[in-house]
Amino acid sequence: MENNFDVIVIGSGPGGYVAAIRLSQLGFKTACVESRKTLGGTCLNVGCIPSKSLLNSSEMYHKAQHDFKNLGIETNEVKLNLTKMMGNKNKSVLTLTKGIEFLFKKNKIEHLRGIGSISNKNTVIVTDENNKKNTYKTKNIIIASGSIPTSLPSIKIDEKTVVSSTGALSFEKPPKDLVVIGGGYIGLELSSVWKRLGSNVTVVEYLDHIIPGMDRDISNEFLKILTKQGIKFKLNSKVTEVKVVKNKAIVDFINNSSKKRERVECDKVLVAVGRKPNISDDLIQLDIRLDKQKRIQVNERFETSIKDIYAIGDIIDKGPMLAHKAEDEGIAVAEIIAGQAGHVNYDVIPAVIYTSPEVATVGKTEENLKANNIKYKIGKFPFLANSRAKVNNETEGFVKIIADEKTDKVLGVSMISSVAGTMIAELALAMEFGASAEDIARTCHAHPTHSEAIKEAAMAVDKRPIHF
Ligand code: NAI
Repeated sequence: MENNFDVIVIGSGPGGYVAAIRLSQLGFKTACVESRKTLGGTCLNVGCIPSKSLLNSSEMYHKAQHDFKNLGIETNEVKLNLTKMMGNKNKSVLTLTKGIEFLFKKNKIEHLRGIGSISNKNTVIVTDENNKKNTYKTKNIIIASGSIPTSLPSIKIDEKTVVSSTGALSFEKPPKDLVVIGGGYIGLELSSVWKRLGSNVTVVEYLDHIIPGMDRDISNEFLKILTKQGIKFKLNSKVTEVKVVKNKAIVDFINNSSKKRERVECDKVLVAVGRKPNISDDLIQLDIRLDKQKRIQVNERFETSIKDIYAIGDIIDKGPMLAHKAEDEGIAVAEIIAGQAGHVNYDVIPAVIYTSPEVATVGKTEENLKANNIKYKIGKFPFLANSRAKVNNETEGFVKIIADEKTDKVLGVSMISSVAGTMIAELALAMEFGASAEDIARTCHAHPTHSEAIKEAAMAVDKRPIHF
């Protein structure tokens, strides 16, 4: 009887642990299988959380070194103690992963330690660290086993010289020269960390622009800002080989247009060319339906091709690979299993790059709308004209609101600002309520705040900003 559950969730990342908590709230006897020693998945252990800790600490270090004196704050020499900085990061990770353990206990969720594999639609086998197998019966299964880093055919990640994001979160000292392959989320966040801590950073990106998929205005401006910060970019360039010779790496790449070949020698290479669904052998054996990109196909109820087996998060064929998308799916799938109307609105999923300044977007980009022949109006407002940004010396960036030409309904928002990641929530809420630009323009925003730039951009949609 002990081994019988209503639902077993496989994976305890933001998708899995949130689903487990919601299921328990709804009265289901729930277990969650996790192979890592600590709960929380990639996000808490080797992703969002440790990277944000290092982004925050390295930004403070950089500010203390470069900005304090302009503010009239005099210090003795500011020194880096990387061991302590890493210790602080590890402490944050531990506190948060323990927090989930506490939430599991509070919600009476059984934490099954080991690698879970599905032998049939009602049976999960968990193999623990001593190779002992335990069998559990369940009415439903939710696969939430996330994603793993991808690499390039010719490159072997050894997590020493050639690393994935996991290795780049734990360097023992700042590499003198760091080459980052891929100018996406991970590449740019970790380039920022190590640049601030003293590395020479070169980003090699296959496309002719960074952050594919984001509004091109934002991508161009962001490139200028990061270049000004000293990060070097080799765009439109394909890496052909990475050789490791005595703890050094040699990276060869070729320009896609000019065919000019270049070589950079460095101490570390970070491979950040995307992630792929973590499809384990048991899923292949079950013959669960996958799409062309080897993601699990689910319907709008998160049902896979096998009855009573659901899937959510990075492993499915819907939405971006983002922690908060997985969390929302976790809640939705639990409610669907309970017979309620769980739902995720994929048109309103915010995305944030936690650099300095931050980049945040929600909804459609100008390029999306052009491709779909949708007529739109744009309102833009620069932080140069925002009083709070000015007094804080944070004048880089702008807010760009795109609204439907006829109805004025907000279709998409992109922004670059020191606090863009926090500000984007207002726009996600506005879009969920179907707001028009005029609705935002008529909403009182506190002064002086960065958020006033949102109101001004909304007024700019109707060509009537006050401060610009
Ligand atoms: P990504 O998809 O964001 O970026 C990968 C980049 O590598 C792209 O710009 C792509 O054009 C480039 N690339 C691909 N092949 C290449 C090649 N052969 N040579 C040079 N460049 C090449 O993937 P990333 O940064 O690895 O992140 C993985 C996932 O993790 C993403 O889906 C992202 O959403 C998520 N993530 C989200 C974060 C956040 O929300 N702040 C932070 C970190 C990761």
